[in-house]
Amino acid sequence: MRTSLSNLTARTTACALTALAGLSVTAIIVSRPAHAENAVASGTTPAGRAAIASRRAIFLLIGNSFRPVAEMLRGPVPPQANLAKYANRVAQLADFLPEAFPDISNGGETRAKANIWNDRADFDRLLQQFRDHTGQLTQAASKHDDAALKAAATAVAQDCRSCHEHYRSE
Ligand code: HEC
Repeated sequence: MRTSLSNLTARTTACALTALAGLSVTAIIVSRPAHAENAVASGTTPAGRAAIASRRAIFLLIGNSFRPVAEMLRGPVPPQANLAKYANRVAQLADFLPEAFPDISNGGETRAKANIWNDRADFDRLLQQFRDHTGQLTQAASKHDDAALKAAATAVAQDCRSCHEHYRSE
């Protein structure tokens, strides 16, 4: 890819520049290892491993941030509970997820199932639903609305469960 890119640049034809402008930088970076190492699971390349490590770190933090919310909502919400802080964290971390599943991170040391990439539209729908619900959770937390908080937290917890059921291996 690098060779063909520099050839293109050397030629600097208007046509090549137009074609390059149409490609996002991410698409170029993401496609390179996949083409270079067709024979191995792409998640085992250095870039694939880095993408998986980053994704797992995001989910670890999502888990750590959602736990206090879930625990506090089991009983009456204590007046001092800083639920908004944790709810905001979950929502902000969820914003990283649309970019956390590049093709190069399919396979290798990951529990992400291959059907994420085979069934992308359904996975993306679930991911968007999760982000919508985390947004509702932060809104309810900022308003100190206990009933809305419990409803939103239940919806978020359900999203965790159904995504794991379909798209995460044991
Ligand atoms: C749209 C799908 C989806 C949603 C929603 C989702 N997860 Fe996950 N989660 C995954 C996938 C896929 C993995 C496996 C990641 C990997 O191994 O690369 C994962 C992994 C994890 C991990 C393990 C991280 C590690 O250390 O490897 C935790 C903890 C976790 N999720 C917690 C949560 C919690 C809590 C929620 C809800 C607040 C949630 N997840 C919502 C798909 C999802």
